[in-house]
Amino acid sequence: MSRRKIIAGNWKMNKTPSEAVALVNELKPLVANDEVDVVFCVPAISIIPCMEAAKGTNIKIGAENMYFEESGAFTGEIAPNMLTDVGVKYVVIGHSERREYFAETNITVNKKVKKAFEHSITPIVCCGESLEQREQGVTIDFIRQQIKIAFLDVTADQAKTAVIAYEPIWAIGTGKVATTEQAQEVCAAIRVCIGEIYDEATAQAIRIQYGGSVTAASAAELFAQPDIDGGLVGGASLKPDFGKIVNYK
Ligand code: G3H
Repeated sequence: MSRRKIIAGNWKMNKTPSEAVALVNELKPLVANDEVDVVFCVPAISIIPCMEAAKGTNIKIGAENMYFEESGAFTGEIAPNMLTDVGVKYVVIGHSERREYFAETNITVNKKVKKAFEHSITPIVCCGESLEQREQGVTIDFIRQQIKIAFLDVTADQAKTAVIAYEPIWAIGTGKVATTEQAQEVCAAIRVCIGEIYDEATAQAIRIQYGGSVTAASAAELFAQPDIDGGLVGGASLKPDFGKIVNYK
């Protein structure tokens, strides 16, 4: 099955709203490629201005996080309908930085994934092992557990539209990209896991990205792997190089 590639930038906590608009304007012509889905996941305060700046282009603006309740006394959080109200279609869920610094767990990830689907927002569900786990040889077991919990009570029809981002923690922001073999091995294992939870059709439909120090130099080989359907890009998504990643072929 041929899956459409999805190449997303995760801007993390970078760029003021005016800097963000300038970056969208700078990248617009560089990422104009209708053969892939291009998503910029930006800080919440920059979503609306970036949407305005990206109007009429192939760029979709996504969020970096979302809360799992509808509304109420949750100071500082962003509700799903706040995102849909301004047209957001993608949200990053369970990034390892959120798990490490903001107490995200597999359970909160699952709640957010379900809530995103309830609101027809596509979750980009992040998973990934630490260096210690890789060295202990438990990478696949660990990722399978993350995936199984993230998708608890998610239907096959919903899962088919999801995006999973495999991001080994040791490769994030370190300049140490996983080898194509390492990335492909884990992405293939994720697809097998989805097949076990659901069925082969769901496994073949779901899109799995690789993330972790992706650059213009590594993108083509990574994205050519049979189970890698694009990338979740951090540092390089803030630079003109992102255009080369989107046009990796
Ligand atoms: O979400 C993106 C990842 O954390 C990768 O970040 O490309 O800067 O290593 P990076």
